[in-house]
Amino acid sequence: MSTDTDLGHVSLLTGGSLAGQAAGVLRTNDMGGWTKAAPLLYPHQWSWDSAFVAIGWAQVDVRRAMTEQQRLFEAQWANGMVPQIVFNPLAGAESYFPDPARWAVEVSPAAPVGVAETSGICQPPVHAIAVARIWEVAEGTGAEADVRAEIRALFPKLMAWHRYLAETRDPSGSGLVTTYHPWEGIDNSPRWDGVLARLEIGEVPPYVRRDLSHVADAGQRPTNDTYDRFLWLLELLKHHRYDDAELHAHYPFLVKDVFLTSVLIMANRALLGLAEVVGATEAERRTIRGWLERGRAGIASTVDERTGLAYDVDMATGAPIEVATFAGLSQLLDAGAAAPLRARSRAILDSADFAGHPGLRWAMIPSTSPRERCFDPRNYWRGPVWPIVNWLFWRGLRDGGDTARAAALRAESLESLHEVGFAEYFDPMTGEALGSAMQSWTAAVTLDWLAS
Ligand code: SER
Repeated sequence: MSTDTDLGHVSLLTGGSLAGQAAGVLRTNDMGGWTKAAPLLYPHQWSWDSAFVAIGWAQVDVRRAMTEQQRLFEAQWANGMVPQIVFNPLAGAESYFPDPARWAVEVSPAAPVGVAETSGICQPPVHAIAVARIWEVAEGTGAEADVRAEIRALFPKLMAWHRYLAETRDPSGSGLVTTYHPWEGIDNSPRWDGVLARLEIGEVPPYVRRDLSHVADAGQRPTNDTYDRFLWLLELLKHHRYDDAELHAHYPFLVKDVFLTSVLIMANRALLGLAEVVGATEAERRTIRGWLERGRAGIASTVDERTGLAYDVDMATGAPIEVATFAGLSQLLDAGAAAPLRARSRAILDSADFAGHPGLRWAMIPSTSPRERCFDPRNYWRGPVWPIVNWLFWRGLRDGGDTARAAALRAESLESLHEVGFAEYFDPMTGEALGSAMQSWTAAVTLDWLAS
């Protein structure tokens, strides 16, 4: 059994330090092998939350960090998809909506029926990035041999997951991953407004929103109209039995997602590193490199000449979705992207459109540009700052050699965390904590930033 002393992280466990408090959040939300995304609002295991959580656990107990990912991957679908939510079988049906009954994933032959209850969509693939970070922490400690063995066992599952995204979610080989639902990551981002508005909504079975009872005011969450559209899409996904080929042919929400694609690029870079750790075959490495190159070319094709932002593509119309959100800076997540592309994105990042806006409380990247007409500083992904997004950009800047800029972003972020605490997201202008308190992934990136 590993102890924190083995890993030299004993200082994180005590006192009222920021690190101690962050570790306390993970412990409070720890369900024994997996971690709730938040105490009340998100009482199950969420896919990308759990990857960030593992990055945080790595600073407390490196084996517990691996367990977090192993548990998640137990619920992997037969087609390789890692589900957005793995439900806690002990939580009551009233704890969260939509519940397993609404998702009814058993209509798909790929669902892990009898193993775990899950939702039927996925989220950004932060997992290989997390496992690579766990390895960095474990290397050279007493845990090294065990962690290497565990990574070896997980590696084929990571390959299947990346293959699902790079191939099944991109049947035309464009290099861009198709997203099926706003819940696949950025919920009510204005990136989806146009596609959602166009939907012809049929009959949505009645439902009760559970999320609104856990936030201070409804203005911090998606609107009821947006929820109806989310739920209608869920009905359609079920109707198509979550079948990717059928969805690509007949389903109305198909968007080539630049953020999802860029996280996959970052994750493929991490997976290449893990290939080294586990002694993967040359064929496997070639496959990963192929995904990486295709993704990189795909992202480059989405960058708008005039604005310099990467835009998602609405597959129904073939048109770019021209809205200024953090996703437009996705090129910065790829440390190997062409230098001129990165330089331009870096300049936009520091402009008044994003982290250089004069009204910001801290120079961090807001979810939507404060200069967008639809900017709302208190509503979920329509303006607030999300620390995990800033963590991803910090990694992209640092790994791309932009160390001074990365260090400044880390410093601002830690300053905000000292003041705001481990909120889900916060108002970029005032620093007011919003959404859930004690959000696991916010605590997790705090731990990693403090250790980096
Ligand atoms: N973030 C979504 C929610 O609000 C689910 O992934 O419930």
